[in-house]
Amino acid sequence: CLASGNATAQGAYPNHPISLVVPFAAGGPTDVVARSLGAAMSKTLGQSIVVENRTGAGGTLASTHVARAAPDGYTFLIHHNGMATAPALYRKLPFNPLTDFSYVGQVADVPMTLLGRKDLPPGDMAAFIKYARANGDKVNLANAGLGAVSQLCGMLLQESLGTQFTTVPYAGTAPALTALLGGQVDVLCDQTTQTIPHIKADRVKLYGVTTLDRIKALPDTPTLQESGLKGFEVKVWHGVYAPKGTPPEAIAKFNAALRAALKDPAFTKKMSELGAEIVPESKQTPEGLQTWLQTEVDKWGGIIRKAGVYAD
Ligand code: MLT
Repeated sequence: CLASGNATAQGAYPNHPISLVVPFAAGGPTDVVARSLGAAMSKTLGQSIVVENRTGAGGTLASTHVARAAPDGYTFLIHHNGMATAPALYRKLPFNPLTDFSYVGQVADVPMTLLGRKDLPPGDMAAFIKYARANGDKVNLANAGLGAVSQLCGMLLQESLGTQFTTVPYAGTAPALTALLGGQVDVLCDQTTQTIPHIKADRVKLYGVTTLDRIKALPDTPTLQESGLKGFEVKVWHGVYAPKGTPPEAIAKFNAALRAALKDPAFTKKMSELGAEIVPESKQTPEGLQTWLQTEVDKWGGIIRKAGVYAD
């Protein structure tokens, strides 16, 4: 590795593969975005981007790893809302998202879908609401741990239904969805970047989307808000981070490759088929990410503290 500060002084950055850490299991929604993005970015960088899945503790193990990695321009993290919810969810968080990272930029916004296993009795959201209230903790809700967006969505869902499910955590929503498909769990709230192919193949029950408006990729699917959960909204955003102190030249090159990837036809086509929306250019910058992160830390901090959900 190059020493901090001289990453581009020799004009050689990047001169070997770059690691992009994903906080959840391979094959899941974050992994899908990371691998497609990495493939597009490597065209500009002339080096491969190797995706490294570091799962555990709702994504916080991966963030801790990257916060402590050498700031040499060869380790990056892609993470979602979990970066902003972690400080409220974890009392002993080993990193601070607002001070321990260098920021690269945002990527894409992704809606979530509320799914049931194929043979779960309710046929639509109205029936699901009645079923959930009547069956409470007999309903098993899968998620990817405290800090996952599936957990966040599940938490808001239980709160708006006034019911408590039994939560079953996995290392990512890839294994959580496998459990749903196998009938081992009943319900999962998960991102369209993983769920759309399964919805189209009719392998799951689809109860609604978590955005305030219907989405282009699933135009006939009602929002949860339309089905009676007023104001219900979870939108997943993605940021790319580096350890604090990463040379500005490396950040600038990585950011330029990110912005090029966000215009790459293969990448944008795949994202739009999976329901994801590329963020506007103002969010594709280090400043755009940093400002957004601060807003989200404040927003979710308040909601989570009110709900009283946290890990010691
Ligand atoms: C994943 O990639 O497994 C998900 O992003 C996990 C989640 O946050 O629900």
